[in-house]
Amino acid sequence: MCGITARIGDDDSLDDLLVSLKNLEYRGYDSAGIAVQNGAGIEVSKCEGEVAELKSQLATNDHDGPIGIGHTRWSTHGPPTDENAHPHTGCKGRVVAVHNGIIENYNALREGLQARGHEFTSDTDTEVIPHLVEERLEAGMDPEVAFRDAVGELDGSYAIAMMVDGDPAVYATRNGSPLVVGVGEEANYLASDVPAFLEFTDRVVYLEDDDVVVITPEDHHITDLTGNAVSRPVETVDWDPEDAEKGGYDHYMLKEIHEQPVSLRQTIRGRIEGEDVVLEDFPPGTFNDVSRVQFIACGTSYHAGMYGEWLLSKWGVDANTFIASEYAAYPAPVDEETLVIGVTQSGETADTLEALKSARERGARTLAVTNVIGSTAARTCDDALFIRAGPEIGVAATKTFSSQVASLVLLGERLVRDVTGGPTEECQQRLESLKSLPEHVERVIENSNAAAISHQWLGGGGHFFIGRGNAYPVALEGALKFKEITYEHAEGFAAGELKHGPLALVTADTPVFAIGTGQHPKRLESNVREIQTRGAPVIAIAPRTETDLTDTADEFLPVPATHPDLVAILANVQLQLIAYHAADEMERSIDKPRNLAKSVTVE
Ligand code: M6R
Repeated sequence: MCGITARIGDDDSLDDLLVSLKNLEYRGYDSAGIAVQNGAGIEVSKCEGEVAELKSQLATNDHDGPIGIGHTRWSTHGPPTDENAHPHTGCKGRVVAVHNGIIENYNALREGLQARGHEFTSDTDTEVIPHLVEERLEAGMDPEVAFRDAVGELDGSYAIAMMVDGDPAVYATRNGSPLVVGVGEEANYLASDVPAFLEFTDRVVYLEDDDVVVITPEDHHITDLTGNAVSRPVETVDWDPEDAEKGGYDHYMLKEIHEQPVSLRQTIRGRIEGEDVVLEDFPPGTFNDVSRVQFIACGTSYHAGMYGEWLLSKWGVDANTFIASEYAAYPAPVDEETLVIGVTQSGETADTLEALKSARERGARTLAVTNVIGSTAARTCDDALFIRAGPEIGVAATKTFSSQVASLVLLGERLVRDVTGGPTEECQQRLESLKSLPEHVERVIENSNAAAISHQWLGGGGHFFIGRGNAYPVALEGALKFKEITYEHAEGFAAGELKHGPLALVTADTPVFAIGTGQHPKRLESNVREIQTRGAPVIAIAPRTETDLTDTADEFLPVPATHPDLVAILANVQLQLIAYHAADEMERSIDKPRNLAKSVTVE
């Protein structure tokens, strides 16, 4: 995965390109580069490192022009070096391209090009693209035809942008990787994602697979791969550009943790009326034909899916959760009564898209629970439920997890009513409690003592997180967040499993965070005592009413008492803060942890 961008205007493009690249860094940040046309040729500047490094190099160059493309990289083929940074050029420097995705047949293409005399300067799969186009230009094709014809040779997933020296346009296409056009007043834009150019324009055109777009300073036109005109609507996005900036916080992650009361309100707004759930695209009866539900997702979204599974199973709906990369390779049986729910913040995670495709091809009904309108998951699934969390820039998912779970509570209400003929009285109580969730999260954030506790055991034997029921996925999520941004060892366990093996690791150096929801107090208390007997400190995260747990634990992170099915969402906010403050203490790269990227568009 990588971020690509372009700016096509009559005035200089460099500043806008650098802003867009900065906004795309969540997609990868191990090297960056730009290429601009300035009337006297194409100037390429690229380097290993983040966009800031590129910017400082550019400060000493006269490197501007009205049409440019840019790239920020997360390496797949070849290590992060200056040579492997994009953009890449053909032999003559006349064609320049940036690419997100993987060209699967690049070896064969490269060998063919080399046999015809082309010389390569990088290890990347991308470099075949400008060479293929260059050959076609030399054979007399015009740039648009040459681009389309070269793309026809590629197998794999890609979003590509390309320029040809002396030709005032950018050519782009996609297949399995996101790409969106920004329609501006002074210039037009292209990027992997809307926040890249949101401060310049909110008018966007979402491209579909195999669309080829030609963008000039004044216009854009779209065709299919054979050159037939294609029409795509210009849509207006309602995200505020300031939402995508840090707003006074040291890190996006902290800002996004603090945004949760607002994002949760957005998720819930207008969706609960009296005792009923009102989901615009899912009126009562929508799921009458569903007999089982499968969640597929990765990482944090997988934990949200597990939470959803727990809620549905508890209400009598047959539900399971699958890791998307496993499901894609080893799919579970489905039929036309199976609803497969892809939980994906970005809507672009390749593993999840592939798993959804496999389910769809085998006859299942698919539904995306996603944050991004216009994302591939939203467009390719039969239905989509938007979590409305707003843009999330920090690589570590925070506010989107809460909004995913809240969305699954809402969707679960519709499902349980349609599948089992509910609602039960308990469903109605939970819906009532969901309305108060934003205020409860606000209280957790305002009163959290996580900063004081988080640093106490850093550098020790590891951090463990345990819970039962719906607290189990949150234990996994707490551990994921902790390891992801602190680089310390952390693991999540079902509390009852500790004694079946992991207890061997527990010493005075392994703090254990125990999440109490009030549903299994005595059993959890026993687990806590088993841990303390081995000398480990236990930190309880629970409502004050859970005295079995809070009186036993060594430290206590309180959360407001609410419906037990929702308590774990509040506990998760405390765990986000624990991870954040620990990572801050350790001076980690919190918003861009090493080796990771926000949107994982490779399998
Ligand atoms: O965009 P998605 O929700 O599909 O992303 C899936 C995972 O890559 C993601 O949840 C990842 O685990 C988190 N960024 C970790 O904080």
